[in-house]
Amino acid sequence: MPCEILATDTPERFDAAVERAVAALRAGEVVALPTETVYGLAANAWNADAVRRIFEIKGRPAHNPVIVHVDSPELARDCVSSWPETAEKFARAFWPGPLTLVLPRGERIPDVVTAGGETVAVRLPSHPFIRAVIREAGFPLAAPSANRSNEISPTTAEHVVASLGDRLPFVVDGGLSQVGIESTVLDLSVHPPRVLRPGMIHQNALRAVLGKLDDVGPETSGKLKSPGGLPRHYAPKATLIVLRWEDEADLLDQARRRGIDPGRTIVIAHRRPPAPGIWMEVHLIPHDADAYGRALYDELHRCDAAQADWIIVEAVPPTPEWRAIADRLHRASHAGSEAAE
Ligand code: TXA
Ligand code: MG
Repeated sequence: MPCEILATDTPERFDAAVERAVAALRAGEVVALPTETVYGLAANAWNADAVRRIFEIKGRPAHNPVIVHVDSPELARDCVSSWPETAEKFARAFWPGPLTLVLPRGERIPDVVTAGGETVAVRLPSHPFIRAVIREAGFPLAAPSANRSNEISPTTAEHVVASLGDRLPFVVDGGLSQVGIESTVLDLSVHPPRVLRPGMIHQNALRAVLGKLDDVGPETSGKLKSPGGLPRHYAPKATLIVLRWEDEADLLDQARRRGIDPGRTIVIAHRRPPAPGIWMEVHLIPHDADAYGRALYDELHRCDAAQADWIIVEAVPPTPEWRAIADRLHRASHAGSEAAE
């Protein structure tokens, strides 16, 4: 059965798609929905069997917990057993938006959502479609990114179809995800709060709310606090490497020294794009962290679609607003150690 793409570009289509998604979710099914970060694979978070289906469809290991999406701070409080002052501050500052808060889990959250852990991750997204669905359904939605485990997250409905089209009846098209990078995951169950996954709401923005925050890098050993925080996770099929170059000759020299064939390589640049000439393709992403974040996964999906063997990405600045992008590039590069899932 071919996977249908439901349009939302007129009020009538939007409402019809909300109705269809809500009916499916009420029936315990899994649906792919747009959010402002990346597309999500959603199920009723109160329904353990429905959430289990998400793991089957993605091929996701059971030890990796999923984020619960709400449409109001009140519904978030129904998902947790305590709502500290810090949660209130962060929610006020950044919700709706790309910030996920990890808090002690509430009684109604099934084990499968938290992977058996004592905390739950909650987020109030800003995309109008998923918010309308949650409001109409009346229950929170458990939703990881709508890609097979270990593949790049989807930022368009077409990306979802390419990855999971054979396993889903329909995908709702909400346009290109406007943030384009997964949410910042902030653990509020520890003191001081810790960033478990960097996102476009960066360290400085978080600090401004609280005044003190310990940043920790991805955990790589022991019991995992956030399994998705392991290094190699968001990988394209091609071998991706991040390089800095002075000029075109320098780039070519570095590539050749690594045994890279330019004719099989797509270059993604933001400052110093080489002339297309000998390269398979050259893509230019704006030198602006927000615009870059929005474009990155689509670029990587295009490289896979073009069946490039290598992707060379021009290194991004080492400043806080580029941190999440540098993190995703590092994970996507084969330098980023062993597979996460
Ligand atoms: O932007 C996003 O967060 C997207 C959209 C769909 O909302 N979702 C997303 O989900 O990226 P996923 O499953 O691909 O990543 C969820 C991350 C993982 O790193 C997971 O380990 C972590 O959140 N996580 C979920 N529950 C957690 C918990 N209770 N404690 C710590 N980390 C948790
Ligand atoms: Mg994911």
